[in-house]
Amino acid sequence: MHRLYSLALGATAAALTLTASSASAASLTRQPYLQRVGPDTATIAFRLDASCVPSVRYGTNGLTDQSAQSASSSRNHAIVLNGLQPGTEYTYLVDACGARTNPVRFSTAPVPGTRRVHFTAVGDFGMNNANQRNVANAMLARKPELFLMLGDNAYDAGTEAEFQNNLFVPMAPLLSQVPFFAVPGNHEYVTNKGQPYFDNLYLPTSKSGGEYYYSFDWGHVHFVAIDSNCAIGLSSTDRCTLAAQKKWVEEDLAASTAPWKVVFFHHPPWSSGEHGSQLLMRREFTPLFEKHGVDLVLTGHDHHYERTHPMKGTSVAPSNTRQPVYLVVGSGGASLRPLEGSKPSWAALRNDKDHGYLDVTVEDGTLSAQVLTPSGKTLDSFTLTKELPPLEAEPEQPGPSEPSGPPGTEQPGPTPPSTPNPDPVTGNPGLPTGPDDSENLDPNSPPGCSAGPAMALFPMGAWVLAGVLRRRRRR
Ligand SMILES: [Fe+2]
Repeated sequence: MHRLYSLALGATAAALTLTASSASAASLTRQPYLQRVGPDTATIAFRLDASCVPSVRYGTNGLTDQSAQSASSSRNHAIVLNGLQPGTEYTYLVDACGARTNPVRFSTAPVPGTRRVHFTAVGDFGMNNANQRNVANAMLARKPELFLMLGDNAYDAGTEAEFQNNLFVPMAPLLSQVPFFAVPGNHEYVTNKGQPYFDNLYLPTSKSGGEYYYSFDWGHVHFVAIDSNCAIGLSSTDRCTLAAQKKWVEEDLAASTAPWKVVFFHHPPWSSGEHGSQLLMRREFTPLFEKHGVDLVLTGHDHHYERTHPMKGTSVAPSNTRQPVYLVVGSGGASLRPLEGSKPSWAALRNDKDHGYLDVTVEDGTLSAQVLTPSGKTLDSFTLTKELPPLEAEPEQPGPSEPSGPPGTEQPGPTPPSTPNPDPVTGNPGLPTGPDDSENLDPNSPPGCSAGPAMALFPMGAWVLAGVLRRRRRR
């Protein structure tokens, strides 16, 4: 064959190959899920049935006029969108080499410090059953800004196939529209110490722990994710250790200036369910939570819902003090387990009859929490309050009809707080009624003391300062 003819044929063949490749649309075998969402970034992960180089088309105001392309040809993709606007709704779709998904929407994290955050949380759901789907769809209907997975996200052993079939398929509508942050459960650790969990999720990282433990801010809430499997010795020591994680947790909490702190992991320090309290987690971590002002600790593992009174050490905290409240929200889809015996003295409320999820709004100095069933029944409701400093003053911009003054001077009339709620704790604030805690770590310490509703009521006098400062609400 003549050499020039051969080259021409080769070029033609290459062009045909490229055309065929670009025209060969792939379909999604895993719908997109939102990872590592922050004020200016989001990662869109998904899986194709064939390798190609897909892109994500996205934009604001319902448009998808921007595009980000994957860096390589493969079946699994995680495309990072950068340069996003905080607190903004984006529409996006996946262009899988010619085949496009239906557009869906999500919102970026708000401007750091924003004093309103809405999130949901639940664990023990990865079953691919109706209970899981009902809980997930109910959460989606609440339109939270983010969702915390509390572990046992893919039963029974956290295999690759179980992540696909028991997490990504049944929860696809939720995961494509609500950013989620996860911790692993013991069931994820059954397979290669959680490796499929780490392979499939794109989580924030910490310097010492990678994706095992991490933290992030969303608005004015600081979230800390702990790997309790690692803490109780289920991980390889070359990957994650209790000592390193504990050191990091202390340093992270100490460094945070956020007014609200929420910690989440799988094994509960306080539970009266089948598994009971995880005493190592209680001994090693709860002193750090108390020392550094953690407000709420979210766990799963036991398949029911339970809330403690505010706890200090191994006892219910004295009244008029503010200490962490511990929740077990293992009611996401797996079979519920009946609670045996009477309610312990440290438990404020527990439920073993209904699947449901936690829905929390943290606005200014008030954290309002509800536990809801898919049908909308409220299983629990409580409120935590604290005094927050007034928002920083905004320099005055004199207008034509306004008298000029030094920066920071106030316009006539104070702006009242939006939702000052003086109630310390509502819901089930009853005094401890059950037997003493049989798992008390310190046999010399008194059993659950006579605390009753033990959340502090803080004066709201600081709000008066709003009268001399021009408050600017950041949403
Ligand atoms: Fe578990």
